[in-house]
Amino acid sequence: MEKNNWPAKLLAWFDENRRELPWRESHPRNPYHVWISEIMLQQTRTETVREYFRRWMEQFPTIKDLAQASEEQVLRAWQGLGYYSRARNLHKAARQIMVEWAGRMPAEKKALAALPGIGPYTVGAILSMAFGQPVPAVDGNLLRVLARLYGVDEDISGTAGKKTITELAEKALPEGRPGDFNEAMMDLGAEICIPKHPRCGQCPVQESCTAWQQNRTDSLPVKKAKPIQKEFAAACGIFCTEGRYLLHKRPSKGMLASMWEFPMALDHDGEKARQDLETQLETAAGPAVWQHKHVFTHQIWHMKAYLLEKISCPEGEWAYFTPAEWEKIPLAGPHAKLAAWLKKTVDSKEKV
Ligand code: ADE
Repeated sequence: MEKNNWPAKLLAWFDENRRELPWRESHPRNPYHVWISEIMLQQTRTETVREYFRRWMEQFPTIKDLAQASEEQVLRAWQGLGYYSRARNLHKAARQIMVEWAGRMPAEKKALAALPGIGPYTVGAILSMAFGQPVPAVDGNLLRVLARLYGVDEDISGTAGKKTITELAEKALPEGRPGDFNEAMMDLGAEICIPKHPRCGQCPVQESCTAWQQNRTDSLPVKKAKPIQKEFAAACGIFCTEGRYLLHKRPSKGMLASMWEFPMALDHDGEKARQDLETQLETAAGPAVWQHKHVFTHQIWHMKAYLLEKISCPEGEWAYFTPAEWEKIPLAGPHAKLAAWLKKTVDSKEKV
């Protein structure tokens, strides 16, 4: 079995086929660009990230600019990407880099791992791509590709399986081009060694692949089933006075922390959620005027929005905003959908 020269073949393929992406443009690679793009690319499609990355670099061209921005500005630039703790951590880490590293990204494993939001994958990506250090960037792509190449039967979502693959990656890293190797693995995983129906006929390392030789590309990698998503009914209230709509700022900890939302009650039962919204605001909910299904990784919200006539705000942070002002505050993703619909409806009524 010819295993040993596959990294060289992979690099030759990458030289011809690498994807043109905005964060790959600077040579040598700018560590700040690598960092921001890697965080954006966690949980978000490459095509979506292109435009967010471009706008981010216009707004915050350096670590210093990011550190000096307000949290609201940062969350606003992130709006639509989801998982807002990623944005908050970027902001905190930028401030930490200003204080501890005079505004320069540290080029050392321990120092990087001490920054908020930077885990082993991102450490590997930054060290290899920006600083040429021989560290693998172990993400879902690399786990899948190497599990197939080496015929690894262990569950790749578990610690033991990840450790096995990390060690294989460390051994495979070619001297001199660790960053290219990691990105080549990402491109191979994104375009050829895809999760279902891999395109083995186009694969530059087909001859070295155990899964291909043994006809096991469908059964590798082994991955245990994901936890089931919890489903909730989300009853939202629309309360408007003099063109301004009531919003609530979510607590500073937990899911969608510090983001603004329409008044909302969650329950497994839709009727109970609506009643809870009424009790919370001492009001009566009118007819549902909008509905939407929002899918997070661990939860699904079946949202319905009701018109409210009068209310009394409970404890917490509440404020009124015009639709134009919604553009300037970080709205929680699912509520941004409601806001967009409401704005369109209000605008079309005004035109009549
Ligand atoms: N996904 C995660 N990191 C990436 C990168 N550097 N290039 C392309 N896709 C990626």
